[in-house]
This record gives sequence, structure tokens and C-alpha cells, in this order.
Amino acid sequence: MGTIIIAAGLLILAATSLQAAMGLYSVTARTLAANRLDRAQLALFRDRATTLLKRVDADRAHRELSWNGKRKFRIARRVYEDPNNDICSFYLRPHDEKPVPPFRPGQFLTFELPIPGQSQPVVRCYSLSDGPANEPQYRVSIKKLGAPPKAPEGTPPGLSSNFFHDQLNEDDIVEVFAPAGEFYLEQESERPVVLIGGGVGLTPVVSMLNWLVSSGSNREIWFFYGVRNRSEHAMYDHLQEIAKENPNVHTVIAYSQPTETCVKGVDYDHKGFVGVDLMKSVLETNNYEFYICGPPPMMDMVTKALAEWGVPDEDVRFEAFGPASVKKAGSGEDSKPEAGAPTFEVEFSRSKIKAQWAKNMGTLLDLAEANGVKARFGCRAGNCGTCSTALKQGDVDYVSKPGKEPESGSCLTCIAQPTSNLVLDI
Ligand SMILES: Cc1cc2nc3c(=O)[nH]c(=O)nc-3n(C[C@H](O)[C@H](O)[C@H](O)COP(=O)(O)OP(=O)(O)OC[C@H]3O[C@@H](n4cnc5c(N)ncnc54)[C@H](O)[C@@H]3O)c2cc1C
Ligand code: FES
Repeated sequence: MGTIIIAAGLLILAATSLQAAMGLYSVTARTLAANRLDRAQLALFRDRATTLLKRVDADRAHRELSWNGKRKFRIARRVYEDPNNDICSFYLRPHDEKPVPPFRPGQFLTFELPIPGQSQPVVRCYSLSDGPANEPQYRVSIKKLGAPPKAPEGTPPGLSSNFFHDQLNEDDIVEVFAPAGEFYLEQESERPVVLIGGGVGLTPVVSMLNWLVSSGSNREIWFFYGVRNRSEHAMYDHLQEIAKENPNVHTVIAYSQPTETCVKGVDYDHKGFVGVDLMKSVLETNNYEFYICGPPPMMDMVTKALAEWGVPDEDVRFEAFGPASVKKAGSGEDSKPEAGAPTFEVEFSRSKIKAQWAKNMGTLLDLAEANGVKARFGCRAGNCGTCSTALKQGDVDYVSKPGKEPESGSCLTCIAQPTSNLVLDI
């Protein structure tokens, strides 16, 4: 009997100890988990604070170092980026050797070029194509444009891109406006990101990629790049190296016309265009921030398909490189109002010129040019803000949505049409 009592007592003791041990274990586990959570939250908080501080520093540096109007830059280096030598990178250093402001990856520089034979300087925008540099330096990568394949004989090749490729050498000086643009990477975000570049449209998204990698971001990054084949494939080694060295970076290269020498699985991953079906085949969800830059048909197709896939508009950012001269030549505007059409009077106050505008005459920029008014422009597509002009009187409508909202009281003449009589400060 005594033995039974002792055994029962031992059993109760063991059960109690086990319960206590279990209790202790679960408290310890909870504490450890809570500590782990605290540590994780602390790390997250620290990361966010560091990112925000960096942003504040960058904004301050931008304010202090940015410049108004033009600044002289020296071409420090030229590097071809593709086997065809169609895309050339130009490394630019400030002629005054003073620091340059940081920029947001995706932004562009605007150049004013004194091209021989042109009645006024040619203004063009080029995206910054690299991440931040440790030295005062910017990089742009420019594609040399020939005449379009179906253009009539005698159509001139691209003015600015050919000037850069054929006339500008190392040590030459170019005049540049400060970095600008509303198409840029949300640097403070921690969400996974999809970067999509078509042809030379890879430039702003490579800048985003380089920034993400050099800032040590652990965001999930997908980089889709579409070109015809290996001969057009720009920054080949750079992209391969980034994908190899950063487990969070996934590159998907699509060739629309691979040749026999293009090796699938080595040079490229997919035969065809970069489209949303391709994205769906590798992305598990649509929960990404999407940044797209490429030829208009690709952008049109991708943005529509993303909307159909349920990606909210605010998660899709894009920029088109408007071919400046084509827009002008192809828009079919007339220099006189159509007979009987309603007209508005537009006064270009600084130039002391008044003109009648009707719908067949295109935009205010077209009207200015048709009347010999020297108006500045870059993209002719409402993206760059170069044509922003003070509206002293009257109202305008836009033929397409401005990529960059002008300041209040100003308008973007390249996409604006009057809805009343106007006075413009040009
Ligand atoms: C925000 C932004 C960023 C950009 N970033 C880049 C970049 O990073 N890299 C890059 O390479 N480009 C970029 N671009 C495009 C760039 O600004 C220029 O539009 C491009 O280089 C073409 O300019 P161009 O002066 O060489 O050609 P343009 O002289 O403007 O001519 C464009 C095309 O029109 C053809 N053309 C000329 N006249 C006629 C005519 N009468 N009829 C029919 N066709 C004609 C030309 O042959 C040429 O093919 C960017 C554009 C914008 C708006
Ligand atoms: S010329 Fe670029 S916004 Fe008008």
C-alpha cells in the first residue's frame, strides 16, 4: 500500500513538474517569440528610419545642389552598350567640378544642343541610366535613331541622337538642365517591384535596378527586358552579373526575333514579347509595384493587360519616350484655321505676336512654331515639363494627360489647346 502511495505521489510530482516545465517552456517560448518579434520590429523600424533619413538627406542635397537653367558638363567617357553599337552611354561630369545633386532613379536630364544647320538649339530629354555614383557624375544611354523604316526617302535621321553618336566625343562640353521627371522609383517602399524595359526604354528601369542593388535593398525585384535579339541586347554583362550576385533579383529576357546564334537559357529566357502572360508565368501574384518604359505599342498592351489582371492603377507607373520630331511632323496640324471653324486669339506676349487658333492647328506649341515664336520643348508629349509656360490669361485643355503636372498658372504648350482667348508668357 505504502509503495502505491509513494508511486502515486511520484506520479503527481512528475505531472506537476511536467506541467510547470510546460508552463515555463511556453512562457519562455512566448518571451523568446516576443523578443524575436521585438527584435524584428526594431530592425524593421531601424531600416525604415535609415531609409527616411537617407531620403531627407537626398532631398536636402537636391535642394542645395540643384541648379537653374543650363549647366556645362564634360563628356568624361563614351561606352557602347550593345553589339550593334546602337546604344552609347555618355558619362557626364560637371565642368565646374562641383558636386551634383542626387536624383530619383527614373528621372531624366534635358539637353540643349547647338546642332549645326538648326535655326534654334535642339532640346531633348535622356533618362539617367545608372544608380547613384560616388563621384559627381551622371550617365545617359542614347540610341542612335535612323529614319523610320517606312518613312519617305530623304527623311532625316534623328537629330539629337545622331549628333551625340557622331559629333560628341570625350572632353566635349554639353549644356544640361537639372534632373527632373515624375516617373521614378518609390525608394521608401518595401513592396516587391517589377521593372519592365522595352528596347532603349531599359534606361530608366536599369537606373532603378542599379539603385535598388547598390542600396542593399532586399525587396523582391523582377526585371523584364524585351529586345529583338542578342545584337540589340544592351548592358548584357551587367544584367547577368546583377542577377547572379543578388538572389532577390530575377531577370527575364525576351527576344522577339532570336537568331540561330542566340542561346535560349543563356542569352534569353523567352521567345516573344514582354507581355503580361509572360509575367503571370513567373510571378505568383499581381501584388507588385510595376514600372514600365518602352515603345508605345508595348506600353499600351502591358498597361491594359495589367489593368485586366486586376493591378490597381496606382501600382502601375510608366513613361514613353516621345520621338520629338515625329510627333511634330506626323500630327498633321495646319498653319491656318479651317474655314468656318471656331477660333480663339492667342497672344504670345513676350514675342509681341498674336495669332488665331483653331482645332486643325494642333497644340499651342504648334501654333507658336507656325508663327515664328521661339518656344522651348523637349518631349512634345507632356512628359518632361520643358515647355511649361505661364498662362497670363485664359484657359486650356489637354489633348492627353500630362505626365508632369505644370505649376498652377502655367500650362504645357506641347499638349495644350485653348478653350478661350489666351495670353501666354512667351
Ligand atoms: C523623358 C524622356 C526620356 C528619354 N530617355 C531616353 C533615353 O534614355 N535614351 C534614348 O535613346 N532616348 C530617350 N528619349 C528619347 C529622346 O528624347 C529623343 O526623342 C530621341 O533620341 C530621338 O531624338 P532625335 O533628335 O535623335 O530624333 P528626332 O529628330 O526627334 O527624330 C525622331 C525620329 O523621327 C524621324 N523623323 C524626322 N523627321 C521626320 C519627318 N519629317 N517625318 C517622319 N519621320 C521623321 C527621324 O528619322 C527619327 O527616326 C527620352 C525621351 C523622353 C521624353
Ligand atoms: S515638351 Fe515635354 S512636356 Fe512639353
